[in-house]
Amino acid sequence: MSNDGVNKGRRRLLVGATSAVGAVGAAGVAVPFVASWMPSAKARSAGAPVRADVSKLEAGQQMVVKWRGKPVWIVKRSEEALSNLAGLTDQLSDPDSASPQQPEYISHDANRSLRPDISVLVGICTHLGCSPTYRPEVAPEDLGPEWVGGYYCPCHGSRFDLSGRVLKGSPAPQNLVIPPHMYESDNVIVVGVDQETA
Ligand code: FES
Repeated sequence: MSNDGVNKGRRRLLVGATSAVGAVGAAGVAVPFVASWMPSAKARSAGAPVRADVSKLEAGQQMVVKWRGKPVWIVKRSEEALSNLAGLTDQLSDPDSASPQQPEYISHDANRSLRPDISVLVGICTHLGCSPTYRPEVAPEDLGPEWVGGYYCPCHGSRFDLSGRVLKGSPAPQNLVIPPHMYESDNVIVVGVDQETA
């Protein structure tokens, strides 16, 4: 082999070695960036999905789970409550949930839910953020004869039906938020994870 051939071979070897060092160097630089970008374990657990077993929930009962520091109400609605919801349209500010307060896979009908009998709502008033009170009774003295069950906000009097739709005349401008959620099995809801829509 001529000298020229040897030199070409050495040059190829050196170029290859430099590229390898460059790649290692780049990987070494990338690690601190990735580490600082990853959320901490505490942050991850604060936003983690929450499971709720609704198998023991009786009609009219509400359970509360905490997700991302907020109360999430899960209520089992009776047949009577569901038929009352359908008759409220004229009393509501946004009966068809046109304002985007819910994931796209949630129905825009009176039920606003994946499963008709179970509602899942973020329990924060859309006026100034108080937590409304669950009032499932029909026509209680303090809420009047038209009341068919829902949520009453004690801070400034906003009223919502059992699907979280705001009643006209309330200071709250929008329906209650429905969080992302899905059914992991017939009776286990996972809050914080989107329903498969594909
Ligand atoms: S915060 Fe609920 S009515 Fe004002």
